[in-house]
Amino acid sequence: MATQIDPAPVAGTRPRHVAIIMDGNGRWAKARRLPRVAGHKQGVEAVRRVTRAARDLGLEVLTLYAFSSENWRRPVEEVRDLMGLLRHFLRAEIATLVADNVRLRVIGDYRALSDDLVALIDDALARTAANTGPTLVIALNYGAQAEIAAAARRLATAARNGAIDPAAIDEASVEAELTTHDLPPLDLMIRTSGEQRLSNFLLWQAAYAELLFVDTLWPDFDAATLAEALDIFSRRQRRFGGL
Ligand code: FPP
Repeated sequence: MATQIDPAPVAGTRPRHVAIIMDGNGRWAKARRLPRVAGHKQGVEAVRRVTRAARDLGLEVLTLYAFSSENWRRPVEEVRDLMGLLRHFLRAEIATLVADNVRLRVIGDYRALSDDLVALIDDALARTAANTGPTLVIALNYGAQAEIAAAARRLATAARNGAIDPAAIDEASVEAELTTHDLPPLDLMIRTSGEQRLSNFLLWQAAYAELLFVDTLWPDFDAATLAEALDIFSRRQRRFGGL
């Protein structure tokens, strides 16, 4: 029996946890003959808009794929631009997150980022930790396979130390080791810009999530696009392996 399964089919409901692969910033910029960074800047505006829309629409958790562990392969200037935008976002948005009672979470190995960014993130996490409203999860230097491998390593270590019985390791044991273990199950995964891949994002958590691929480029994503996605979700029949 897998762990994230809700026994009853759910229809006509609102997702509790939505994740978004924000794609298409580069194409948005290219279509306007602008540098790629202009697309990323508009992408940050979309992050602001959609974070507010998610709260207004009553989502409990919004998880955004901001930087994957594979994104380091991009040109150094682009990585620098993305880190600069993240720095700016954190500085500019922290007061709003606190005021809006939003709890910030980061998944991924963010400690590999520059020292000042790590300090900014730690400060933002600490300042929003006691908030009781919706959770905004930002995936930074995140890779799902690495997350699952880390979980396996911890379980193997516990087994070697005699703390757990290897034969007793099940889906719940693995899930308890994931960085998302205390969040509601992922209901809906959206990818923008027409690409249809999960790109190493929340692979375990997506086991029973509804997948939605939309053509909208991320900088054009707004409250209406999110509301439309939730409407499509509400009309899907989720069977979780049953009939
Ligand atoms: C994909 O567009 C987008 C990214 C790799 C990064 C997403 C980052 C942001 C929206 C900004 C930073 C985030 C926060 C939370 C402040 P792409 O460049 O792959 O687009 P393309 O496929 O059209 O080239």
